[in-house]
Amino acid sequence: MKRSHTENTVGPWARQKLNGLEAYLDSYTTALSKQRFKLVYIDAFAGAGKSRIRGAWENADESDLLLLDEKFRKEESEFVEGSPRRALSLARPFSEYFFFDADNVRAQLLKELQDEYPDRQINIGIGDGNSLVQALLPSIDGPNTRGVAFLDPYGPHLRWSTVQALGTTKRFEVIINFPLGMAINRLITRSGDIPNNWRADLNACFGGDEWEKLVYSENRDLFGDTDRQKVDNAAERLLEYYATRLKDVFGHVATPSVVRNTRGSPIYYILWAGPHPLGRKIADYILRLGDRVSVPNDRKRR
Ligand SMILES: C[S@@+](CC[C@H](N)C(=O)[O-])C[C@H]1O[C@@H](n2cnc3c(N)ncnc32)[C@H](O)[C@@H]1O
Repeated sequence: MKRSHTENTVGPWARQKLNGLEAYLDSYTTALSKQRFKLVYIDAFAGAGKSRIRGAWENADESDLLLLDEKFRKEESEFVEGSPRRALSLARPFSEYFFFDADNVRAQLLKELQDEYPDRQINIGIGDGNSLVQALLPSIDGPNTRGVAFLDPYGPHLRWSTVQALGTTKRFEVIINFPLGMAINRLITRSGDIPNNWRADLNACFGGDEWEKLVYSENRDLFGDTDRQKVDNAAERLLEYYATRLKDVFGHVATPSVVRNTRGSPIYYILWAGPHPLGRKIADYILRLGDRVSVPNDRKRR
């Protein structure tokens, strides 16, 4: 079994995303615990269940690594509980869980959670999270259902049609890990020459081709030829566009929280959208805390 499937390796910043998620889910199930709703948690890009945080030595030279013995390196490895375990171990759990992942090996590991948490109702789906969410919604949506969908793709794999399907229920909230700096902005080339498959992914992610007008300026030269240039604030424009569309569909959107890598560059934004202003207030509070959120599952796992 390839280690990359079983052991997702993430940067130290993944902890900010996961702690924020856990804090929000805890507030959500606590706030709704006195009401008789069926509470559903959907994790459409669920991962392997745990991730290994890259240590300081991770990018060290081979010669430096030879100085560290294997035992030390293993002990230095720090694991964080992934999003499915964060949701399963809440003091007041959801009534039902849906975990989806396109990777067969990761999905098999997710199935082990069914034995680990026998008193939780857990469903695992293998395949594209978009198709699985869109197929699931009509069967679970009803007046007594409320839920949260965590949407955490690596790249532009979350389709706008999935977000829209969740929003139009008016019963689901979404927490989106939007990989704008890490992946999406990199597909938008400086020259404007974008391979067709990248453009198709971006169109599906943004729900149309409007994004392209936002990120390029066009100048006509003396000979009438058009020259395209990527604007400097492309990422900010796309973020604002996406957040505005979320607000249109869900009704409320929190102020996006930026997550930066160790060099200070934005890699993704955590977005919350939902149908209630109270949810937005809680999300705003948690997102404002950034990496200062403290939760029970933020502990080292060897
Ligand atoms: C960022 S990781 C998820 C990490 C996890 N949410 C966590 O925080 O513990 C993204 C996951 O999405 C999966 N994936 C990629 N494309 C997918 C798709 N179209 N549908 C569902 N899962 C997909 C990958 O196999 C990977 O496990």
